[in-house]
Amino acid sequence: MVDSMQSSEHWAALAARHNAVAGRPITALFADGGRPEAFSATLDDPATGPMLLDYSRCNIDTETRDLLVALAEATGMEERREAMFTGKRINETENRAVLHTALRNLDEEAQILVDGADVMPGLRATLARMESFARDLREGRIRGVGGRIGDVVNIGIGGSDLGPAMAVQALRPFHDGPRVHFVSNVDPAHIHDTLEDLNPETTLIIVASKTFTTLETMANAHVARDWMARVLRDPVRQFVALSSALDRTAEFGIDPARVFGFEDWVGGRYSVWGPIGLSLMIAIGPENFRAFLAGAAAMDRHFRTAPAAQNMPVMLALTGIWHRQICGHASRAVVPYDQRLARLPAYLQQLEMESNGKRVAMDGSDLEMPSGPVVWGEPGTNGQHAFFQLIHQGTEAVPCEFLLAARGHEPLLEAQHRMLIASCLAQAEALMAGRSLKQARAMLRAHGIKGRALDRQARHRVFPGNRPSTLLLYPQLTPATLGAILALYEHRVFVEGVILGINSFDQWGVELGKELAGQLLPVLEGEADTGTCDPATRQAIAFLRDSG
Ligand code: F6P
Repeated sequence: MVDSMQSSEHWAALAARHNAVAGRPITALFADGGRPEAFSATLDDPATGPMLLDYSRCNIDTETRDLLVALAEATGMEERREAMFTGKRINETENRAVLHTALRNLDEEAQILVDGADVMPGLRATLARMESFARDLREGRIRGVGGRIGDVVNIGIGGSDLGPAMAVQALRPFHDGPRVHFVSNVDPAHIHDTLEDLNPETTLIIVASKTFTTLETMANAHVARDWMARVLRDPVRQFVALSSALDRTAEFGIDPARVFGFEDWVGGRYSVWGPIGLSLMIAIGPENFRAFLAGAAAMDRHFRTAPAAQNMPVMLALTGIWHRQICGHASRAVVPYDQRLARLPAYLQQLEMESNGKRVAMDGSDLEMPSGPVVWGEPGTNGQHAFFQLIHQGTEAVPCEFLLAARGHEPLLEAQHRMLIASCLAQAEALMAGRSLKQARAMLRAHGIKGRALDRQARHRVFPGNRPSTLLLYPQLTPATLGAILALYEHRVFVEGVILGINSFDQWGVELGKELAGQLLPVLEGEADTGTCDPATRQAIAFLRDSG
């Protein structure tokens, strides 16, 4: 149970702690020695190998960490965590359980009850069907009218796109199946440019939509069906659906044997572990997909059992709470020094911002503190040549979350991987240590600059430092480590949501724009007038009509 009185005392204690330590240099915390180990959490599971989350470069000392952990405990995090894993209806605004963790539970003996019924046999059966489908497709037993399937197009958006699209890119070294493409945007350019180079006779279309009503996905699915109809007598012969809405997939004409369903207790942004991951399974194969699930399951076990200060998701969440709600940093940057994780920031934008971007607490009251931060980012080193100027010398601090593998997949290019490592570690060090005016002046003097020129130049060369970052290290980007990384972030979002007292599993904030778009379509089609639109919308419509 959440004890709000108690937790408000904890918030107050943390605010006081912040006032006391805000000006302190983070570097000073390292004076005693032993800090990197004491302010890191590790996971060492046979599935993933060792993983390390180092949060020692944040302005968090033992006292602050104790206060943060006490806050998490006071808000009932541990009870809520068990409630999630055991199938309780913790998504209260939609009256649903939250069981994406069950999708990756590979324990053949596990039982998880929802309203008294064990959900595991159904999940195992669906996984087995997906595996048999993926094998048949990859090994050429399921064929297109033109022969072996060479291309797969996943049509979906949000959680029905971002997870598989990100993971397919991340696991490129493991691809040994057909090419996989992703179409999400309703902008016709997206489907046009994707289908343009493909042969319908050897292409499989996956329509991924939990609801099977999403405007973008259904519009693109119809375009794909028409494209197939140009050459195939049965235009949906090479269609697969991933959906909870079996009546709608049937209405679209998709063979029930080619439909992979999932329950309403799998949220869209948490759905890559089940049928929505089919495109990934096709690309990397069922064994690698199981390794992906096993990596996530390893993080689940760690999250459920490790003490708070050594618990990776709990500590990542507590650094998040410290930076956003206590220190007031409005955004956080996710910077993977891993090019194949280029889509991770976009994936995390949905995961974090759709989950925790809320101004009303679970009980309907106003949130008394800021909601989750803006999440953004790009892979390093590219980001260094774009936005790092602001991160180092802008007026606002932006906490950075770095991700880095010990080794890449290119044995002949190890020297280049070392450059990547050096760049990542250098950024974390530079953000924390900065460069003082004295150091800047000495540096300029060493370059022969003196007098008024030196005075003028020196301040531009100062780095204030004391800018926090975390570092997540893993052996190599593999299906298992990727699974663990994603589960780490999912659970971080969960812990932050519990501490804020919000429901991380609904997304009512996406509804209004969808409704208004539905009302505007008849206006654009000339079937309704612009009378109900606001004046700015009327002007935009007039411009678009005149210039279209
Ligand atoms: O618009 C938000 C959203 O509902 C996401 O939560 C979801 O991942 C996405 O749309 C796609 O929904 P569906 O899988 O039902 O097409």
